[in-house]
Amino acid sequence: MTDIAFHLNGTPVCLSDVPATQTLLDWLRDTRALTGTKEGCNEGDCGACTVMVTDADGPKALNACILFMPQLHGKSVRTVEGLIAPDGTPHPVQTAMVTHHGSQCGFCTPGFVVSMVAAHTAGRTDHDTVLAGNLCRCTGYAPIIRAAKAAESAPIPDWLAQDAAPAFFSAQISSGGPGGRQPPGAYRPTTTDEFANWYAANPDATLIAGATDVGLWVTKQLRDLGQVAFLGGIPDLKTIDKTETGLKVGAGVTINALMAAVAPTLPSFAEMLRRYASDQIRNAATIGGNIANGSPIGDGPPALIALGATLHLRHGDTRRDMALEDFFLEYRKQDRHPGEFVEAVTFPTNAPNLRCYKLSKRFDQDISAVCGCFNITLENGKVTAARIAFGGMAGTPKRSAGAEAALIGKDWTIDTIHKARAAMARDFTPLSDMRASAQYRSTTAGNMLIRYFHDLNGTPVDLMEVTA
Ligand SMILES: Cc1cc2nc3c(=O)[nH]c(=O)nc-3n(C[C@H](O)[C@H](O)[C@H](O)COP(=O)(O)OP(=O)(O)OC[C@H]3O[C@@H](n4cnc5c(N)ncnc54)[C@H](O)[C@@H]3O)c2cc1C
Ligand code: FES
Ligand code: FES
Repeated sequence: MTDIAFHLNGTPVCLSDVPATQTLLDWLRDTRALTGTKEGCNEGDCGACTVMVTDADGPKALNACILFMPQLHGKSVRTVEGLIAPDGTPHPVQTAMVTHHGSQCGFCTPGFVVSMVAAHTAGRTDHDTVLAGNLCRCTGYAPIIRAAKAAESAPIPDWLAQDAAPAFFSAQISSGGPGGRQPPGAYRPTTTDEFANWYAANPDATLIAGATDVGLWVTKQLRDLGQVAFLGGIPDLKTIDKTETGLKVGAGVTINALMAAVAPTLPSFAEMLRRYASDQIRNAATIGGNIANGSPIGDGPPALIALGATLHLRHGDTRRDMALEDFFLEYRKQDRHPGEFVEAVTFPTNAPNLRCYKLSKRFDQDISAVCGCFNITLENGKVTAARIAFGGMAGTPKRSAGAEAALIGKDWTIDTIHKARAAMARDFTPLSDMRASAQYRSTTAGNMLIRYFHDLNGTPVDLMEVTA
């Protein structure tokens, strides 16, 4: 009887009794001797373990080190060994890497090549974005980007086409084969209703959505998660619906899918999400996980709070809604009852003055030291409404109530901004940690307000936009 069925480099694989939290990286290296997939950081940061995973949504680059085996069910996986044709012809991206001298020591190269092949298969040419999650310490990025550009116009090789063929996502594989069953210790629901009832009866289970947080509990903290539920196979948790005033986004929507959904109406939010980790992480991480995790430095909540988002929670058949900021009670403590889960989040999209500023030591693939999101309404030169929310300034994502009060009803002038900035300093007592000192956080949060003033007044404020 099969627990997990997927295609690996074009060949069907049916497994039983695989531990629910075994990572694909370990499985490939330990049981299949597919050692082209490298272990660098084992925490989603370096991209050395990148594999291409294709499902009904198309090909994606994912980090195998934080991808649990049951997450592969019904999908197609390509490792670097599976990119070459059966007759030994390399993939055009591999040929271009050789021609353009894209490799020196070679440790990072399989991960780069797989990321580039996933992008090539998806028809993407935003190479800087695609490769932000692949770290190379010796070649330098210029030859690699040159290789990616050189391969752009090459056709997708026939030998990869079967990964995306509709026949591949057959009933047999998606049901785990005849008599398919749940992996041991794991539950893999396919509808939200089914999951809601199960979780209400099993409130101690650990929920796993994209595993970009939970994966590290296993690979770094060596935690035994006990019973787990994988939410990735629930299509109705991944919907994005238009409401009268905005969007209702299911908890299972990935950060990349959210980014695409908000780009037309909330470009600053989308731009901030482009700097959320890397393409590999954004392909896996969900907005539900980002909220439920309750991190004080998560990037999703400050933007959503500034927008005035409503969180939808569900326990069995019972639902309750709350303002998103009310969900975060204190450091890592959220207003979520046992057996209750995040079902969706709703937010308005008519917010032309929303701006999201992420401050981190590295432009790409770095957690925020401070994330400030500003959303004010101006009428006849006066501030009529203000919502300002920060990550990294307190034990939870938090609004700057004092600054908001100092703005509302006042003239939109730099003098008002300076007064609001002083009020903001009283709103927060940030911590010093490895990312930033308390003083740095306070100063830069206040500077963001000044930046916002100039931004709304049309002055270029983004370093990437400033030209000589
Ligand atoms: C290399 C790296 C870089 C990162 N960079 C960033 C960054 O720049 N910005 C940022 O904000 N975050 C970042 N993160 C953190 C992480 O990606 C996010 O917190 C992510 O959104 C979590 O989503 P997930 O689906 O992977 O959650 P999971 O890891 O699957 O789950 C996270 C938590 O939420 C719970 N959970 C998941 N779904 C639900 C649900 N529907 N209802 C209730 N509970 C649920 C889980 O049980 C768990 O407690 C990074 C992580 C890594 C590894
Ligand atoms: S080993 Fe570094 S991202 Fe997986
Ligand atoms: S080629 Fe050596 S780390 Fe990239």
